[in-house]
Amino acid sequence: MSLISQEDLNRVRSSANIVDVVGNYISLTPKGKNFFAICPFHEDHNPSMSVSPDKQIYRCFVCGNTGNVFTFVEKFLGVSFAEAVSIVAKECGVTLSLDQTIKKEDKFQKEHELMDLVLKIYQNNLRAYEGEKAIDYLKKRNLFDETVKEFEIGLSLNKNILHDLLKEKKYGDKMLEELGLINCNEKEFLDVFRNRILFPIHDLNGYVVGFTGRCYLTDIVPKYLNTKETYLFKKGKVLFNYHRARDAIRLNKSLILVEGNMDAIRLSSVGIKNVVALMGTSLTKDQMEALKKLRVPLVLMLDNDSAGESATYSIGNLLEEQGLSFSVVRLSGAKDPDEYVVQFGKEAMVHNLEKTLSFMDFKLNYLKKNKNLDEISDLSEYIKSVLINLKKSQDDVLIEVTLQKLVKDYNISYDVLREQLGTKELSKKEEKKSVVKNNKRINGYYKLCEEILYYMMNGGEYIRLFQKHIGIFPIQNYRMIANEILYYYEKNKTICLADFITYMETNALKDVVLEIINREHEIELNSDAMFGAIKLFQVKSKEREIKEVKDKIKNELDDRKKMELTQKLMELKKEVF
Ligand code: GTP
Ligand code: MN
Repeated sequence: MSLISQEDLNRVRSSANIVDVVGNYISLTPKGKNFFAICPFHEDHNPSMSVSPDKQIYRCFVCGNTGNVFTFVEKFLGVSFAEAVSIVAKECGVTLSLDQTIKKEDKFQKEHELMDLVLKIYQNNLRAYEGEKAIDYLKKRNLFDETVKEFEIGLSLNKNILHDLLKEKKYGDKMLEELGLINCNEKEFLDVFRNRILFPIHDLNGYVVGFTGRCYLTDIVPKYLNTKETYLFKKGKVLFNYHRARDAIRLNKSLILVEGNMDAIRLSSVGIKNVVALMGTSLTKDQMEALKKLRVPLVLMLDNDSAGESATYSIGNLLEEQGLSFSVVRLSGAKDPDEYVVQFGKEAMVHNLEKTLSFMDFKLNYLKKNKNLDEISDLSEYIKSVLINLKKSQDDVLIEVTLQKLVKDYNISYDVLREQLGTKELSKKEEKKSVVKNNKRINGYYKLCEEILYYMMNGGEYIRLFQKHIGIFPIQNYRMIANEILYYYEKNKTICLADFITYMETNALKDVVLEIINREHEIELNSDAMFGAIKLFQVKSKEREIKEVKDKIKNELDDRKKMELTQKLMELKKEVF
């Protein structure tokens, strides 16, 4: 980011109108001078985020998120700062000569080159004589040329070829082995993948890091063979099709999560492209983070078997804990989304995706499994398990509706259910606590310093007032921020909040600055008002000094020093009155 000049950044920032940019992603309602929105950065029920066209910043007074166009795009889309700059530039038609600066430096360049080359070799194998059988298999599964190309599907042959093909190149055997492509023994170099249809697996940035290979000549175990864990390929950190699906996910504002790579390929091949696959039935923390970053609701559509059902329950619970918004699709009539589309067609699939189940509805069914609700013990166990699940919910309406449903379906007293649920009040309190946390009252003196800094970020005239009447803050963080403001102003000859945020991007004090900007300053931005704040600051600074000296006198044992301090105290008091 240091390669993009501050001037360039400011040029993009000032060409973009934050209302238009933010409005592309969330809906904004005008109110007074500002616009308001449901904050996308926390579970918001009322519009807590305001977007100011005057200041070109947004702030949420509940969760504390604050920033300018760049920080918004960065956080909303889960992209890097540089990517956010380039997205904003594109959106407002500014051309930047920073394409090469935006590309991240690739510390595994050689490895990535090798993986790309191996992928080409595998793709090419489909054209070999042995490839015919593989292509027949793919055709039988309704996978034709276009899809094979798009997903870069390849083939490993019934012989060891990689080492010989690559030995002329600059990659050593060690790298081939470490990346999980070959195994070496005393006599020979064995390809890891033999007789398999190969699907490349990319990391979240789109680099090929491994392969998953399906048997196709005969059914053997394992059906799928994956690249071993290597320093490039970490199974728990990748999601199949993530890099390809990103644009479609943004466009559709939703993401479909499926189990198998074939499910993702199938949906994508019929035009449902906002899909990523887990490659199994577990969801790791890293994968969850990657999904969370996309900030769109998920549709969980796992296989139709009981493993898929249990996984829906367990993954659903994880997503719920993390506060991700999602719904569930359970297919019937086919084993998985792939077979469902092949059998019933795209329209039927779209229909399923349009009428998703809430997780609660899914659980109401799931928890019934293997229970005979005509029997008292099963019924009571069922009701208890539903209540346990409800306790986790923050959604009052959902809780109420579900309780009403239980009352209706099982003829149980509403009051008994409510009583059992008990902890509802607690969750409300927790919510309140988090709101208070962000609106925390700060000590009057600190508040005053922050107000003065806030003035300074808003224009040169305020900076000059600061220099003339204050010059230096006694509190270290504020002193350092003031220095940054002075430095910025000196270099750019002008300052505004929105650009100063960009300047602080890589500074350790960025969060403090954002907190200051986020706080509700009940001040008017004019020099007289700032002068008033400065006067007050001076009085309070003296009071602080007096208090400090008094404390010192109290603790001082040496009489001579005590005298000196008392002298100082008297002088200080004289200055005040
Ligand atoms: P197809 O049979 O080709 O349609 O695959 P599928 O997607 O229906 O596979 P399945 O539902 O059986 O499994 C889902 C995912 O789990 C697959 O996409 C693989 O990533 C993974 N998987 C399945 N079988 C194996 C296996 O034997 N070994 C390993 N390592 N992974 C497997
Ligand atoms: Mn399948």
